[in-house]
Amino acid sequence: MAKLFSPIRFKDVTLKNRIVMSPMCMYSCDNQDGIITPFHMTHYISRAVGGVGLIILEATAVEPAGRISAEDLGIWDDNHVSGLTDLVEQIHTNNTKVGIQLAHAGRKAEDEKFTFSPSPLAFNEKYQVPTELDIPGIKRIVKAFADGASRAKKAGFDVIEIHAAHGYLINQFLSPLSNQRSDEYGGSKENRFRFLAEIVEVVKNTFDGPIFVRISTDEYHKDGNTIDDILYFVDKLKDMGIDLIDCSSGGVIPAKIKVYPGYQVKRCETIKQEKEIPTGAVGLITTGIQAEEILQNERADLIFLGRSLLKNPYWVVSAADELTYPLEAPKQYKRGWR
Ligand SMILES: Cc1cc2nc3c(=O)[nH]c(=O)nc-3n(C[C@H](O)[C@H](O)[C@H](O)COP(=O)(O)O)c2cc1C
Repeated sequence: MAKLFSPIRFKDVTLKNRIVMSPMCMYSCDNQDGIITPFHMTHYISRAVGGVGLIILEATAVEPAGRISAEDLGIWDDNHVSGLTDLVEQIHTNNTKVGIQLAHAGRKAEDEKFTFSPSPLAFNEKYQVPTELDIPGIKRIVKAFADGASRAKKAGFDVIEIHAAHGYLINQFLSPLSNQRSDEYGGSKENRFRFLAEIVEVVKNTFDGPIFVRISTDEYHKDGNTIDDILYFVDKLKDMGIDLIDCSSGGVIPAKIKVYPGYQVKRCETIKQEKEIPTGAVGLITTGIQAEEILQNERADLIFLGRSLLKNPYWVVSAADELTYPLEAPKQYKRGWR
């Protein structure tokens, strides 16, 4: 039987299959208010009808200054909860679980007047020089993650994913390329991990469901985090009870990345094998057979799909055909299925 279609459990949450819709910004909030729009409803619910096991909503900002763009979703205000609750309920009616990616863009916030980062270093010449976060600033953002987690819980999300990848704020703390602090949040890898550790702690205290962390497993720079540094962070996250490491890469500096099918899977496999923690593979995974190989060879536990699901909301149906898996139709479609 195809492993891609086998269930998997994280805490009390069972996913019906291993297919995850990877978080993807949709730049679709009207009025720059971070509130769900009809587009978001259509976009996410159609992937639930299409049979995805877990949908993770796009990077959702825990404070306005944490938005990548002014059109990003937000979870910094109680006003955000009602729209998110409706979306979660609709996704659930399709027997699909739903997570939310809690995020802060830090120095990569594109439309903000002021940006924040561990050190006053711009991402590149097109970005402004960020303000170095002082300790009250750090504590403010940690609390914003806690409040975001609390609202996510109210809205009924099954999973929270903490965005610690792609060179956004948490990644800016983790990486020696963007963190040049000399206080307890910078310098050694223990110190660079502190900001993420504090966020994990408050999210855990608020939300008792599964918590995933997305990290950049490769920074594509000789002075960036090494695989040993990454394995150290994973070890710590495992000790803290994180349920899955979502293994992406890049974004800390404007590096040129060589991409090819499954280009991020190797590091995902290393993390899973060496640290014995569930992992999610992502990055140019496009076919059911490719996904099945990754799962059968214990290289990952979940398959995250981005662009494949943008192009085809029924990717799951195509993959079932490829793997000759007898996928059950949504009940409304049963009469016309096969
Ligand atoms: C339009 C778009 C928006 C994205 N937004 C996010 C995001 O909000 N958070 C995130 O972690 N990754 C984001 N990503 C990266 C995807 O989640 C995924 O990791 C990447 O596209 C590689 O997977 P793929 O080859 O299956 O598309 C985005 C990608 C795309 C194409």
